[in-house]
Amino acid sequence: MSLMRAVQVSAPGADFELIKKTIPEPKENEVRIKVQACGICHGDAVVKEGHFPGIKYPRVPGHEVVGTIDKLGPAVSSWEIGRRVGVGWHGGPCLKCEACRKGDPGNCASFLTTGISFDGGYAEYMVAQQQAMTIIPDEINSFEAAPLLCAGRTTFTALRNSAARGGDLVAIQGIGGLGHMGIQFARKLGFKTVALSRGKDKEELAYKLGAHVYIDTESLNPADELKKLGGARVILATAPNSKAISQVINGLCFDGQLIVVAAPGEPMQFTPGQLLGGRGSIRGWTARPAKDKSEDALNFSVISGALPMIEVFPLEQAASAYEKMMTSKVRFRAVLKIGA
Ligand SMILES: NC(=O)c1ccc[n+]([C@@H]2O[C@H](COP(=O)([O-])OP(=O)(O)OC[C@H]3O[C@@H](n4cnc5c(N)ncnc54)[C@H](OP(=O)(O)O)[C@@H]3O)[C@@H](O)[C@H]2O)c1
Ligand SMILES: [Zn+2]
Repeated sequence: MSLMRAVQVSAPGADFELIKKTIPEPKENEVRIKVQACGICHGDAVVKEGHFPGIKYPRVPGHEVVGTIDKLGPAVSSWEIGRRVGVGWHGGPCLKCEACRKGDPGNCASFLTTGISFDGGYAEYMVAQQQAMTIIPDEINSFEAAPLLCAGRTTFTALRNSAARGGDLVAIQGIGGLGHMGIQFARKLGFKTVALSRGKDKEELAYKLGAHVYIDTESLNPADELKKLGGARVILATAPNSKAISQVINGLCFDGQLIVVAAPGEPMQFTPGQLLGGRGSIRGWTARPAKDKSEDALNFSVISGALPMIEVFPLEQAASAYEKMMTSKVRFRAVLKIGA
């Protein structure tokens, strides 16, 4: 029996463990991927800390996965061995809900989640449904492609489906994995781009990423500063802290939109009056499998040159890379280097 190296979480809140486990076999509709790179997303905390109900442990996290197809399941005819592919948060249709039963998996009501419903990319090999995979363009290397499959896709689709139009003021709150892609995409999409971050540490890099304006939220009130600039048509909240998100609502312009992609557990706090006078709205956002495709974010990155800024770690250092991400010290996405 062939074994592979993998990093797993054996129970909610447990430490990462580097283990040897059996290389998985692809079933009917699945392919096996020899993993080259896997990004470490803040969303992996869901598995590490057990924030989602019903996760089966032990579980291998990782939903920003790039590698090459190494084996095909018996019913797979549309993919070939050797092809470089990526798998993101959406792990494919559940094949059980009404839409799936009616042969419309693009509208699946409860899609599978990579690294949560099934083992993900903190491993030398993983299996994925054939519908979950995306071709990686030749222009992007595997390490830079990996974060585009979640951080990139989420922020790109949030912005391009938002109320903002070219020239509008758009603020990106929190400069981490998602935020640093948000700044680049906002700039490349033609918005006046404002970066909101705690302290001065990231100011220079924020300008390099394309921000027109930088606001240090520790020394200035971000809502007041945005108002001085005319108010934001869109604020994209990526900081996983409800208090920090609540503090920016007053920075919207008339008909402004707060788009929340961060997923903190505590309630946000605001009064109805903060929204109604300025007709503000709050919208949650996640990319939908059929509509907001990873290909679109990858292609936009190729066209625009918006690529992640990454720090690469070997698989054995997954725990310290995750810790660096959780303490906002990574610039700006940690990516595991797993195979050739
Ligand atoms: N909606 C979706 O589909 C989707 C997809 C992926 C991720 N997510 C969620 O999006 C959030 C961001 O993910 P990520 O991978 O970008 O995380 P990350 O790399 O850890 O970045 C988060 C950033 O938020 C800021 N921040 C962190 N803690 C904070 C606090 N206590 N108060 C204020 N600001 C704080 C920091 O930026 P500064 O240092 O610049 O302040 C940090 O760099 C997470 O909640 C994740 O679960 C959602
Ligand atoms: Zn993610």
